[in-house]
Amino acid sequence: MKIALVGFGVVGQGLLEILRDKAAALKASGFEATVVAVATRSKGTLYNPQGLDIGQLLAAAGDFQQYPDTAGLEHGTDILSLIKTCNADVLVECSNTDLQTGQPAIDYCYAAFDSGKHVVLANKGPVAVAYRELVARAAQAGKQLRFEATVMAGTPSIRLAMQALQGCTIREARGILNGTTNYILTQMEGGMSYAEALAQAQQLGYAEADPAGDVEGWDAAGKVIILARALFNSSITFKDMDVKGITAITADDVREAAAAGEKWKLVARVTPDGGSVQPLRVKLSNPLAAVSGATNAITYSTDLMGDVTLVGAGAGRLQTGFGLLSDLLDINRGV
Ligand code: HSE
Repeated sequence: MKIALVGFGVVGQGLLEILRDKAAALKASGFEATVVAVATRSKGTLYNPQGLDIGQLLAAAGDFQQYPDTAGLEHGTDILSLIKTCNADVLVECSNTDLQTGQPAIDYCYAAFDSGKHVVLANKGPVAVAYRELVARAAQAGKQLRFEATVMAGTPSIRLAMQALQGCTIREARGILNGTTNYILTQMEGGMSYAEALAQAQQLGYAEADPAGDVEGWDAAGKVIILARALFNSSITFKDMDVKGITAITADDVREAAAAGEKWKLVARVTPDGGSVQPLRVKLSNPLAAVSGATNAITYSTDLMGDVTLVGAGAGRLQTGFGLLSDLLDINRGV
């Protein structure tokens, strides 16, 4: 499978580390990946139809000029035409999320479908803003649109709902859908300041490029919209939702909750009719109270299976990189 990677931050590098470190095991299971193109808006593009060296790419992540000048290598700046003309089978889109416009990543996805490529996204923007259009363009092209990594990193929240629970009617999804805020709240329970906990979450690669979206609830709200589109074909927008983050929660609030045997959690909820993101005080006996750090949880309420809950990593370099890999493996298997 030949891959064109757009976006080469924490997540893109995480995917390439996995492809480098697990190449032998993946090959033994029938998956062989070659990265032919890497592009970012700040560093430009690297393309070699024969394949780029993953180790050298990771070494040159900060400056593409550091990549060795090997035969067949092309440097450039025009991401759209690279996507259209390169020989990749799949576009992996993991550039920074813009939940308002989804751009320029939506155009990258269209260019990929129009030139016969599958699309795998960690970038939430295009899925939240243009889900229906992307599904239509993928169908028109006879290609796959995959976005497991957009909700709960590589924890298979999308696959659980859309594949494993297919045949059930899902009535509601609710849980903790943002790793950064759950990490901050957990660290505050241990006595750390809000600012220090946020700085750690950034350092650990959990937070978005602009962490305001995490702490103000918009990242979780974007995931609510993705779930609303994918599960319920709902047209809900940010304007239709109550969205509140954790910025108003103080160390005193956290201590007060602890004294009452409770914890603050940023809880997201989505139904066929709406969605919300709200900080709530939950009792220690509530299963969400045990979900700590950058771990997330989602409960699908269904007709046939009752509640089905999935708990796992919600953010992180390798965790989100794995989300992308899981989609690439599905495409490779023809799922
Ligand atoms: N910033 C996001 C989070 C990354 O903290 O959950 C995963 O979508």
